[in-house]
Amino acid sequence: MNLCCILISSWIFIIKVGKGDHVSDQHLEWKLAHTAPPERCTDSNGIPYPSLTATLSVGTDGPPLFQDRSFYERTASFNRERIPERVVHAQGTGAHGTFTVTHDVTQWTKAKVLNQVGKRTPAFIRISTTSGEVGFPDTLRDPRGFGVRFYTEDGNWDIVGNQIEVINIRDPIFFAAGARARKRNPATHLFDQTMAWDFIQSRPESALHTLKTLSDIVTPESLRMINGSGVNTFKLVNNKDEIFYCKFHFISQQKFELMTPQRAAQLAGNDPIYLRRELYNAIASTNYPRWTFAMQVATVSQAENYRWDYLDNTKHWRFEDFPLIPIGVIELNRNPSNVFTEVESIALSPANFVPGIEASADRILESRIFTYPDAQRYRLGVNFNMIPINKPLNKVATYERDGAMCVGLNGGGGPNYFPNSFNGPEVDPTAKQMPSRMSGDVARIDTGDADNFSQPRLFIEKDLNEDARQRLATNIAAQLKRVTPAVRELVYRNIFDNISRQFGEMVRRSVSAALAVPNTLPPERE
Ligand code: HEM
Ligand SMILES: *[C@@H]1O[C@H](CO)[C@@H](O)[C@H](O)[C@H]1NC(C)=O
Ligand SMILES: *[C@@H]1O[C@H](CO)[C@@H](O)[C@H](O)[C@H]1NC(C)=O
Ligand SMILES: *[C@@H]1O[C@H](CO)[C@@H](O)[C@H](O)[C@H]1NC(C)=O
Repeated sequence: MNLCCILISSWIFIIKVGKGDHVSDQHLEWKLAHTAPPERCTDSNGIPYPSLTATLSVGTDGPPLFQDRSFYERTASFNRERIPERVVHAQGTGAHGTFTVTHDVTQWTKAKVLNQVGKRTPAFIRISTTSGEVGFPDTLRDPRGFGVRFYTEDGNWDIVGNQIEVINIRDPIFFAAGARARKRNPATHLFDQTMAWDFIQSRPESALHTLKTLSDIVTPESLRMINGSGVNTFKLVNNKDEIFYCKFHFISQQKFELMTPQRAAQLAGNDPIYLRRELYNAIASTNYPRWTFAMQVATVSQAENYRWDYLDNTKHWRFEDFPLIPIGVIELNRNPSNVFTEVESIALSPANFVPGIEASADRILESRIFTYPDAQRYRLGVNFNMIPINKPLNKVATYERDGAMCVGLNGGGGPNYFPNSFNGPEVDPTAKQMPSRMSGDVARIDTGDADNFSQPRLFIEKDLNEDARQRLATNIAAQLKRVTPAVRELVYRNIFDNISRQFGEMVRRSVSAALAVPNTLPPERE
């Protein structure tokens, strides 16, 4: 009767609070959904636990015995709980959702997931920061990764992008360097603006990424308000074997609100994982966030004749040149029930694209197609695609076999070699890839490009109004004031002055103003 009262009053409490803090109430909500008598507790082998409060020992003062199998399992399991966190984008949050096609795009792609208006596909989105480790405050400035998985009938299709459309490098050889410069100094183990800006000033191709990273969109009041972009250039193939190039985008349907740096720093202290809390609560209270899934499409000749290199990830395709074509809507409508097995175990990968979508000659994409599964074999093990969150919804019929944690049917008694005469899996002709032609000298070609600054200039002069421009200069100054003066001078000379004399002056003035105020916060809180 007591329990009954507690349950009833809990319900009333939840109803009264209405838009309550579902994060704080999570266990209560779980309990209310699991009203049957408690399950009996077992070890991982299914054997019931004799006790959850006392080890098996000899007498009152005697030592615990090895006979206490369940105790040793418990200890050993705890010792092995952690797996390597992602080397970048470690801090993330995610949710399940539904993708619905709203527009006919079959003139550009034969991808089955997109072939019919109204078609629905289960989806998952993981939104991450770039440099901070797991547990690092998520309100601080750090461009968000935006990874989307579609569980299609042709396997898992992932678009693993970010919120700012471009990255800082043109050649993947710089990836580790660019990432390390934004992570911890090996001697101090602190974030180090001198390292970060030294990399930027020595690679002017990173200018647009730098400006966007320091602009308003990177500090949103909610993760529901940010856009996602696939960044890489993909190839589309339609049913007539025609080829197009494209960029994918997820455009938030929630109105953008800026989180001020002061508030971001305050939350970083008081509620470090504030943005995850906010997203969790929104979904738990059925305030489902939605994104319009859209793409920019170019014919082969439009792409090849574009005024910028259409494959260069440090540049974007301006929307006035290639307008957004809507495809559908993604709605996030279910929080993960377990973060480790869902958000942490998902192996999003740019290598996962389905027939109708192909890789282009984008060299960053090319390198990512190797890197992600490689990282995932290390992080999750060779059979990472057998983990439930990664298991495709369609049937897997592969000739690959065995390996650690091989928990599927493993091909059963079927042939493990091809060709074979015994009815083993065959190629599906609809998965045919389009032939493409490439030629050129095999050489190490420096991707130095005559044009590092015209898109940054357009961003400053056209995309930002006066107020946003000033906020950008202030955000830059908050970091630049921490930079060794000699490197700071190189930054002016190699980056900002080349974007525009005027903006260079604006940044210098903002840095002088920032230097006049004593530091009140550690650098990573500013
Ligand atoms: C267009 C450029 C890139 C973007 C937008 C991007 C974005 C992302 C995102 C969003 C994640 C997190 C995935 C998740 O939530 O599970 C991620 C992870 C990762 N990225 Fe990138 N990335 C880019 C380029 C690269 C390149 C060039 C490399 C290396 C050559 C790289 C290496 C990695 C690695 C190793 C991980 C961790 C994967 C894992 O452990 O599951 N990224 N990236
Ligand atoms: C653009 O930047 C790259 C390095 O990021 C450099 O190699 C190239 O020379 C630069 N182009 C110009 C015109 O400065
Ligand atoms: C998202 O993209 C749309 C379309 O390009 C743009 O109007 C909007 O400002 C973007 N919002 C953010 C937060 O980047
Ligand atoms: C930037 O501009 C200065 C002077 O106009 C020039 O000497 C320098 O080479 C430029 N740097 C880059 C990276 O374009």
